[in-house]
Amino acid sequence: MPVKTFGVIGAGQMGNGIAQVAATSGLNVIINDIAEEFVARGHSHITKILSRNVEKEKITLEEKEAILGRINTSIDLEDMATADFVVEAAIEKEEIKFQIFKDLDRICVPDAILATNTSSIPIGRIASQTGRPDKVIGMHFMNPVPVMALVEIIRGLATSDDTFQATWGLALKFGKTPAEANDYPGFIANRILMPMINEAVYCVYHGVGSLEDIDTVMKLGMNHPMGPLALADLIGLDTCLAIMETLYEGFKDSKYRPCPLLRKYVEAGWLGRKTKHGFYTYE
Ligand code: CAA
Repeated sequence: MPVKTFGVIGAGQMGNGIAQVAATSGLNVIINDIAEEFVARGHSHITKILSRNVEKEKITLEEKEAILGRINTSIDLEDMATADFVVEAAIEKEEIKFQIFKDLDRICVPDAILATNTSSIPIGRIASQTGRPDKVIGMHFMNPVPVMALVEIIRGLATSDDTFQATWGLALKFGKTPAEANDYPGFIANRILMPMINEAVYCVYHGVGSLEDIDTVMKLGMNHPMGPLALADLIGLDTCLAIMETLYEGFKDSKYRPCPLLRKYVEAGWLGRKTKHGFYTYE
């Protein structure tokens, strides 16, 4: 069955981006969060990005209006009763995601696919909160979602082929390139990316180089679009720490131990761009 109404849970930076690409691809979107101020902030961010695209003549004013016209906001999870595909992009806390999936399982029609944008919580553990583990899957977008070409699609042990094919097809419809990963801690993207970021933080911790020099080495020496410390600030240092902890817990291998400096920053509330202070400061 083709997807007509696409639900997004969470109006943070990932949820907004996902809602924007889904509405741009022609789907009707419902973006849900727990408070009016969060969905309003999310909607105004999408409007800002689309207005910028009009100024750059990437889309017309009519296209912008049409995309926005396909996005509805909601603060009542029961509204997901009309969605046939839902992506959860809420905060990266297991107990919160578990409750959302329990609720979605009760609310959504039996055929609806329930995907999670989790960056590292096992898909099988989330799926087991529902009575439809065959319809639960990981659909992991990269930040910033409208710009990044990849969607990592993660099969849980019980995910059906139909669910996998539908999710793969949706990623293509969004103009993204999907890649398949199995359900092990960090999947592929964060299994490789996060130890690199963590090692860059160790380089700061051990005084190997300044923030700028560490980022310059990786940017110019490896042709990365941005250095690992600037990227950590973009992702959020709390998210980086949570993923390192998932890797460490999942493998019990010391090579995944989070750098104490990363923890110290998070404890101080220096979470990166979103708090205007991380490794760098932002106006
Ligand atoms: N939303 C929408 N569009 C954005 C954006 C955002 N937040 N940030 C930048 N853009 C757009 C800009 O408008 C610009 O568009 P045009 O080409 O049409 O002008 C384009 O992206 C390039 O932006 P800039 O010129 O401002 O800057 P840049 O060339 O340095 O690119 C970047 C910025 C795209 C962020 C680039 O630095 C980059 O690719 N960085 C690496 C990002 C990355 O690695 N992301 C993955 C993080 S890991 C993750 O998300 C998974 C996880 O689980 C943690």
